[in-house]
Order: sequence, then C-alpha cells, then structure tokens
Amino acid sequence: MKKFLAVLLALFAVGSFAFAAGRQGGSSSSGSTSTSAGGALIGLAMPETTVLRWVKDGASLKAEAEKRGYRAELQFGNGDQTLQNQQIGNLLTQGAKLLVVGQLNDGVASAVADAARDKVAVIAYDRIIQNSADYDYYLTFNNFKVGQLQGQGIEAGLNLKAATAASPKYITLFAGSPTDGNAFFFYDGAMSVLNPYIKSGVLQVVGPYPETSKDTANFQRIATEGWLPNIAKTRMENLLSGDARNVTLDAVLAPNDTLARAIIEACVADAKYVNKLPVVSGQDAEAASLAMIKNGQQYMTVFKDTAKLAEAAIILADQILKGVANPTVPGAVLASSIGLEAIGDTGRKIVKAYLLDPVNITQANWRDPITAGFITPEEIAANGLQ
Ligand code: BGC
Repeated sequence: MKKFLAVLLALFAVGSFAFAAGRQGGSSSSGSTSTSAGGALIGLAMPETTVLRWVKDGASLKAEAEKRGYRAELQFGNGDQTLQNQQIGNLLTQGAKLLVVGQLNDGVASAVADAARDKVAVIAYDRIIQNSADYDYYLTFNNFKVGQLQGQGIEAGLNLKAATAASPKYITLFAGSPTDGNAFFFYDGAMSVLNPYIKSGVLQVVGPYPETSKDTANFQRIATEGWLPNIAKTRMENLLSGDARNVTLDAVLAPNDTLARAIIEACVADAKYVNKLPVVSGQDAEAASLAMIKNGQQYMTVFKDTAKLAEAAIILADQILKGVANPTVPGAVLASSIGLEAIGDTGRKIVKAYLLDPVNITQANWRDPITAGFITPEEIAANGLQ
C-alpha cells in the first residue's frame, strides 16, 4: 500500500510539473521560455466585436498569453470608450501587470494615465493611443502600406496605367473612423497611389476629394464614424442618388471589408450596378469578403495576420514584464527605421512603433488567408470557401 501511495504521489508530482511547464510556455513557438512569468495577469482591452477581426485578436491574445504562463482577462468595449475605460479600471483593480489596449478614441488616455500611476505598462495594440505620454510601445501593421495596397488594387482593377483623360474613370472615396489614427494612414497610403491619376485627369473623383487626410474638412465628409457599416451604406446610397447620379462609378475606395460589403450592398440595390459592380477595395481578409473576391464582387482586400500581431504583442509584453531594456519583436520592423516614425506619434510623444507587413489579396490568391490558418473551418463552410 505504501509503495502504491509513493507511486501515486510520484505520478502526481510529474503530472503537476508537466502542467506547470505547459502553463509556463514550454511549447511556445516563439522560443520564449517564460521562466519568471509567474502567472502575472495581462489585461486585454479590445474595442468592439462589430468588425470580426477584434474577436479573433482577443482570442489569439488570450491564447498566446496563457501559452506563456500568464493569466489573461479579455474585455470588449462594445464601441464605447467610457465602457472600455471602466473595463481598464477593473483590470487594474484585479492587479493586471500589463495592458494590451485596442482603443476606441483618445478618451482612453485617462485610463492609460491611471495605468501609468499604478506602474502598469501599456501596449497600444493595432491603434495608436493619441494625446498620451503615458506609455512607450505600439504594435501594429504598416498602415501606410495597407493604404498603398488598396490604391494599387484600384490602379490594377481599373488598369489606370493604360487609361486616358479623354475617357476617365470615376471613383468615390471613403475613409475609416476619424477617431482611429489608422484611418489617416490608410487613406494617405491609398491616395499616394491615386493622386497622380487624379491630377492627370485619368481618374475623376465623385463627391468630396481630400487630397490627403490633412484636408480635415473634406476628410470628415468621407470618414465613417466608428467604422459603422450602416453609416457607409447610407452615405453610398446618398451618393448614388446624388453626386453620382449622372455617372457610372468604376471604383470605390473602401477602407475595410465590413464597409466594402456595406457599400456593395448599396450598389447592388441600384439597377445601374446590378451586372457590373465598381472595383471596391477592402481590408482584413474577412471570410465574407474572401467569398466576394472569389466571386468577383469585391476586388481586393488586405490580409493582416492578426494571429501574428497577437503573438508579437505577447512576446513584447513578456519582455517588458521581465524588464528587458530594448525589447525586440521577431518579424516586425521599427517604424523609425523605415521613415514612418509618424505612425508612433501620439501628439504628446513618439512611442516605439513595431510594424508587421500586410499582404495584398485578390482573386489570384484569395486562398492565402485560409492557407495561413486565419479562416476557421466554420467560416470556410459558412462562406462557401472550400
Ligand atoms: C483596424 C482595421 C479595422 C478597423 C475597424 C482599424 O483600426 O486596423 O483592421 O478594420 O479598425 O475595426
């Protein structure tokens, strides 16, 4: 009996060691050993769930943190900064040692100031936290390049290189939420490709034309508050019956997939576009948009592998929590090293901005996000992407 008990105890010890090793990130693909992670709490504050990516970001962040031996608490702000600030307050009360924050608007700065007061580090996740000097790190994609890819998609879709001012192409412009710093970079990246064609008369803009996002008055007119698809759909409907009444649009610059589909919905309700939709750009490689790209309804999207962004965020968090002086993020470049330090400008200081690379998706490579494991089997089945 004694022998039996000893064996049982030994087995239990091995079992709990294996469990602990698993929790400490022994299987981590990043090579992090996390010997001193010690189960500290990482707070994950994501902005909303209307745009599907945030649900995936949240799940990936939680899994990556737990894989490295941390505890993680995930919150979604439902598009409401006041709610997100309360959630951040609760995370601090629960003793979070680090926060990963995808903000809604610059009202988040007061919650970040509270974190700084508690000596809790904050990583701005995907979106810069503006008007704050209370944090040091920002991790995102190269958002200017996201816009360039959208502009290049429209350039290719309309074959602008071969087009002439005698027979111009017509485009209408949409931007993301003015509360989101990314929206400005997306727009400026896209317009860096499209402006030369507009200047030469090959491309004509229907509706407001901010040459860059610095034209604040016109940018506000094409912006989509809160990235809400209903706002984009209504604006498109109004354009179709207003400014675009007497032309046939060849393209629409849409800043992400959720808005692209809302814009396409407005177009298909108009007899003029039933058989020939405009070339519409997008972003996020959402399954529903991949299906439309496959079927030729949406022209392109930009694939940002948010599982990689989440992994990078936790690799960064792990180093910050261990007091590493100059954290490095594999696969990311520093914005300052490629002349894009503006991406890390909060208006109060320049934070260290790490950028991952976005990828262009068209009908030629629509399967790439699936191959990368970004689309779940359920999404594949539900959207006919087999
Ligand atoms: C993100 C996009 C997303 C948009 C709306 C941006 O900050 O970078 O991926 O489509 O927010 O949620």
